[in-house]
Amino acid sequence: MNDKQLVAIQAATFVKDGMLVGLGTGSTANYFIEELARRQREDGLKITTVASSTISANMAQSLHLPIVALEHISYIDLYVDGADEVTPEMTLLKGRGSDLVKEKLLAKAATQFIVVADESKLVSRIGQNFVIPIEVIPFAWQLTKKSLHDAGAEGDLRPNAAKDGFWVTSHGSYVLEMKFDKNIDAETLNNIINNTPGVIEHGIFYSLADAVLIANNGHITERWR
Ligand code: A5P
Repeated sequence: MNDKQLVAIQAATFVKDGMLVGLGTGSTANYFIEELARRQREDGLKITTVASSTISANMAQSLHLPIVALEHISYIDLYVDGADEVTPEMTLLKGRGSDLVKEKLLAKAATQFIVVADESKLVSRIGQNFVIPIEVIPFAWQLTKKSLHDAGAEGDLRPNAAKDGFWVTSHGSYVLEMKFDKNIDAETLNNIINNTPGVIEHGIFYSLADAVLIANNGHITERWR
C-alpha cells in the first residue's frame, strides 16, 4: 500500500453512519472514495456524499455511493481532500486542477475538514513549490492581473494542455498563476487576493483545515487544530 492510500484509509475511519461527506479531488482523494465504497459494500456503511468535481462525482457514482448535488446542501459533516502544499500552520495551497471553487466551498461548509497528503506536500511557506492559482472572471483577467501586479505579484494566465490557448476551469474561469514576495505571510496574502476585484476564488486555504494527516514511508502523523 502506498502512502497516499494509507492516509486516505486512515481519514475514512472518521466517517460514521448518517454523515454527509464531501469528496475531494486528486489521487489521494480517489483512494478515500474507494475506501468509502468498500466500507459501504462490505460493512454496510450508510452515508451520503457530495463531490468537489465532476471527476470525483463520476467515480462515486460508478462505485454506487449515494451522491447529492452541491446546490442542494447547506452544510456537510466531513470533508476529506488532498493539497498541493501544507504549511506548519495548516494553511494549504490547492487548485492544481480545475475545481478549487467547489473545494473551498466544501472546506468551509464542513464541520470537520481533514487534509490527506504525503510528506512531499510539506512546505515552510505557501508558494514555496507552486505558483498561486487565482481563478478570475475571463473578461477581467487583465485588470485583475494589473491589480495583483500592483500588489507585488508576477505571473500570467495558465496555458491549456496543448499550449495553444488558456486553461478554463470547471466554472468557465481563467486561472492567473501568480508568484508573490516570499516574505508576505499567508494571512496577508489571503486578504490581498480576497480583496482584488475580478477574483472568483484562489488556492490559498487559510484557517480552514481542522486536521492534517501526513503519511511518510508507511507512518501517519496527525496534526489537529
Ligand atoms: C485539486 O484541485 C488539488 O487541490 C488537489 O487536492 C491536489 O492537487 C492533490 O492531489 P493529489 O492527491 O493527487 O496529490
